[in-house]
Amino acid sequence: MTDKKKRTDSSMTDQELVEAHASLNREKHPPTVGFLYAPLIFVFVFGCLIFVCSIQLAHTTNNFQLHPPREVVELSPEEKEALRIERKVESGKKVFAARCASCHQDNGQGIPGQFPPLDGSKWVTSDPGLISNIIIMGLKGEIEVKGVTYGTNPAQNMVAVPINNREIANVVTYVRQAWSNEATEVLEEEVSAFRAESSEQSEQWTGEQLREMYPSAFSTE
Ligand code: HEC
Repeated sequence: MTDKKKRTDSSMTDQELVEAHASLNREKHPPTVGFLYAPLIFVFVFGCLIFVCSIQLAHTTNNFQLHPPREVVELSPEEKEALRIERKVESGKKVFAARCASCHQDNGQGIPGQFPPLDGSKWVTSDPGLISNIIIMGLKGEIEVKGVTYGTNPAQNMVAVPINNREIANVVTYVRQAWSNEATEVLEEEVSAFRAESSEQSEQWTGEQLREMYPSAFSTE
């Protein structure tokens, strides 16, 4: 038996062996049923998995940001409003420093005999149209501020301050709430309405004109 096997194995020459392998190689496996669909299904399933995972990942990492922004603090409507006013007053203060403080001074006290005070002045804290119109067209002639008369000297007058409605709204709001003043905010839209009032005016306002336009502002003076 062993002899026979041995003989069979060794009876093939090298040449025969090579040919036998070659013919085996040439033979093809019959295709397995469903062979083509298996990889397709795998690709599809993995595709779906990757898709779902990336959506999940994008959600949890805030659109793939390595350093997500600090959590946004939700402000209540009141806090937002306070912040808005704060910013407005802040920018009004800058306008004041650049456009008004040289005469009316940083502390709003003016200079006695030259520039009237804005702190505690009715012209500032009553109707916002009054101060807005003064900024838009300027002011000349005699006026009374806190019981003191200014503008007796014609050289002492205020020329129009060339700033836009937004800057006027900001600076007026600031002045109306600075120092001891506690008056309401003024909106940019209101200022544009005041500007319309000034459109007919070709030169500086006089105190008299403004008194007529805003009688209520002086009713208790
Ligand atoms: C060049 C100096 C000068 C500048 C700058 C100036 N003013 Fe005046 N302002 C005066 C004078 C002078 C008067 C008084 C005019 C009069 O007597 O007719 C006056 C009057 C006023 C009045 C009415 C009187 C009072 O004291 O309440 C207000 C309000 C006022 N200015 C606000 C402002 C604001 C706000 C600014 C800046 C946007 C400004 N002024 C810039 C000189 C100035």
